[in-house]
Amino acid sequence: MKRKRVGDRKKVQRDIDEHVGAITRPQSWWLSMKIRNILLVLTVIVLVAVGVIAFLQVIDPDDISVMENTESVILPEVKRSGGISVEEALASRRSIREYSDAPVALAQISQLLWAAQGITEPDSGKRTAPSAGALYPLEIYLAARNVEGLPQGVYKYDPNDHALNTIKQGDVLPALSVAALGQQAVEEGAAALVFAAVYDRTTQKYGERGIRYVHMEVGAAAENVYLQAESLGLGTVIIGAFDDDEVQNIIGMEEDEEPLAIMPVGKQ
Ligand SMILES: Cc1cc2nc3c(=O)[nH]c(=O)nc-3n(C[C@H](O)[C@H](O)[C@H](O)COP(=O)(O)O)c2cc1C
Repeated sequence: MKRKRVGDRKKVQRDIDEHVGAITRPQSWWLSMKIRNILLVLTVIVLVAVGVIAFLQVIDPDDISVMENTESVILPEVKRSGGISVEEALASRRSIREYSDAPVALAQISQLLWAAQGITEPDSGKRTAPSAGALYPLEIYLAARNVEGLPQGVYKYDPNDHALNTIKQGDVLPALSVAALGQQAVEEGAAALVFAAVYDRTTQKYGERGIRYVHMEVGAAAENVYLQAESLGLGTVIIGAFDDDEVQNIIGMEEDEEPLAIMPVGKQ
């Protein structure tokens, strides 16, 4: 029998290697491409996840409510205890018509609005001020000029969410002062609370007598604001002398809302 020479065997092995290489090389190339693609997808997933986490950390959670509804400003939580007693506030309360130029804090505005019409019993919806038949005919607007953290503008107080809803932008206090027969106190305040009433809410139940009730209610709410302002070191005055139509127009009130009082507020 003719034996194969060593050189031949080497050649055969080379042929086999080349042949096998021809089959296996494309397979390993395909595999490495697949791994590369998987790595690419994983890298993209990791980058997106890192981006989302960084975004969530940069955004202040307190800003989110503002971002969801840019028209609405959630007010700072109110305090239920203060520096002076009710007796002290009653004894020192006066109508103040001159204020310093210092800004008023949004937390102080929050406190004043709460004192006027804040909800103190969420289940029943009852508020800081009494209301005939708990019908709550009063609406409160805020004309802001120098309030820290609040752009100049007119806002409407929403007692349910303890929030302010934007009505219009800009400083309306000079115009409001003119409407209040030129009273300087209105123009000098850092802000002004403007009380309006929807008489129907009360007269539907109580008839003509409901008008009297609405006027009693604005008095009660205004006194709450006086006492709260005193406790915060702020000055205020209730103003009843003004042109109704002009005030309604400047503030941007609803047709069925009648303006009843303006209370400018500022640092004493
Ligand atoms: C219904 C009502 C309307 C008022 N209107 C005005 C007003 O338009 N301008 C003003 O400067 N003060 C006004 N005041 C405030 C009173 O002038 C003030 O309460 C009064 O002088 C007593 O002072 P006191 O609040 O410091 O105790 C009004 C008060 C009430 C109760």
